[in-house]
Amino acid sequence: MKNVLVTGGAGFIGSNFVRYLLEHEAEVQVFNLDALTYAGSLENLKDLPHPERHTFLQGDICDQELVNSIFQEYAIDTVVHFAAESHVDRSIFEPDAFVRTNIFGTFTLLEAAKQAWLDHSPPAAEVRFHHISTDEVFGSLSPTDPPFREDTPYAPNSPYAASKAASDHLVRAYGHTYRLPYTLTNCSNNYGPYQFPEKLIPLMILNALEGKPLPVYGDGKQVRDWLYVEDHCEAIWLVLRRAPVGESYNIGGGNQPTNLEIVENLCEILDEAVPESPYKPHRQLIRFVTDRPGHDRRYAMDITKISTHLGWQPKHTLAEGLLATVRWYLEHEEWVRAIRQRGDFKAWMQQNYAQRGELA
Ligand code: NAD
Ligand code: TYD
Repeated sequence: MKNVLVTGGAGFIGSNFVRYLLEHEAEVQVFNLDALTYAGSLENLKDLPHPERHTFLQGDICDQELVNSIFQEYAIDTVVHFAAESHVDRSIFEPDAFVRTNIFGTFTLLEAAKQAWLDHSPPAAEVRFHHISTDEVFGSLSPTDPPFREDTPYAPNSPYAASKAASDHLVRAYGHTYRLPYTLTNCSNNYGPYQFPEKLIPLMILNALEGKPLPVYGDGKQVRDWLYVEDHCEAIWLVLRRAPVGESYNIGGGNQPTNLEIVENLCEILDEAVPESPYKPHRQLIRFVTDRPGHDRRYAMDITKISTHLGWQPKHTLAEGLLATVRWYLEHEEWVRAIRQRGDFKAWMQQNYAQRGELA
């Protein structure tokens, strides 16, 4: 692992991973390819450790010529592929971008890797394509179902999940057909610093601070398996260094609160963290709103494989992670202001919540 192409490294998990990699791998050069869509921001890459080993490249992963040239120019030997459209609600309104970036973009990167690494003799050694995916490819669990395992059949329900499932299948097919050295991880819901405030946890924190409604979809009893983003980054790093080619691993936080419990928990943390708030108790801001169509009821990950094979366990409990996340948002007012002032963010909030009967 010398010249690492990180795609989507200006987004939430990608920017956390770039930071993690620069801190933990003294030798690597990181080439960060990101289109800077609404979800990506150079604000997420301020104050990187060892910035001399990081090169930002603005561009689209669907641009085959560009991607090929990056492999050639920077002698890429490792890909960590985060770039995606990532928000389920948006995939319901505008699935096109999900099909394009998540499926066609992954195909483009696989083609570039194949051409650069395999289409000559002898093929390149010590190369790796690591694909970042989600637990949502496995569908929805009932309250009594066991957690998802690596061999759970795929049953994606949203356009987002279906596009990620398709990309996972493409990665596997390139491994099987062309012997492209790949690894794959499916992770549960992440939270932590730099998450775009369209997702549940940052949205609730920022709305509560401004005294805006906290829109809980449906009955709020849906269950997610939450993982602090730094723990995800550590798991990916371990997989890159130690996992055999062709393996996939499930990654999760080992906790399954309901959405309502998460929101109530955040309200309690904010009541203590901002004792002078005029909106206390923040739980009075909770509103039940029209549910997401096709809303998956429950996700849960079985992490036995990554724990036994690679010795990985999440280091943060949910309570610690939520507290650290609230503190981060309180301490990064400038980041919050820059992200929230974007016109496309305001337009999204109008579109999503107006029709749910709640304007956030
Ligand atoms: P994000 O939406 O915060 O960031 C995505 C990044 O990809 C942005 O910086 C965006 O500019 C970039 N991007 C989008 N389209 C692009 C294109 N065509 N070309 C180049 N760059 C493009 O997403 P995230 O939450 O950080 O998720 C990152 C990855 O992790 C995704 O693949 C997602 O499916 C996966 N994942 C996310 C979660 C989660 O809870 N957020 C959980 C499991 C897996
Ligand atoms: P989200 O953060 O969008 O992640 P995902 O859909 O990938 O799980 O949502 C997490 C859960 O929170 C999901 O069950 C939907 C719910 N939710 C709300 O109840 N209200 C909201 O405003 C949002 C954004 C999500």
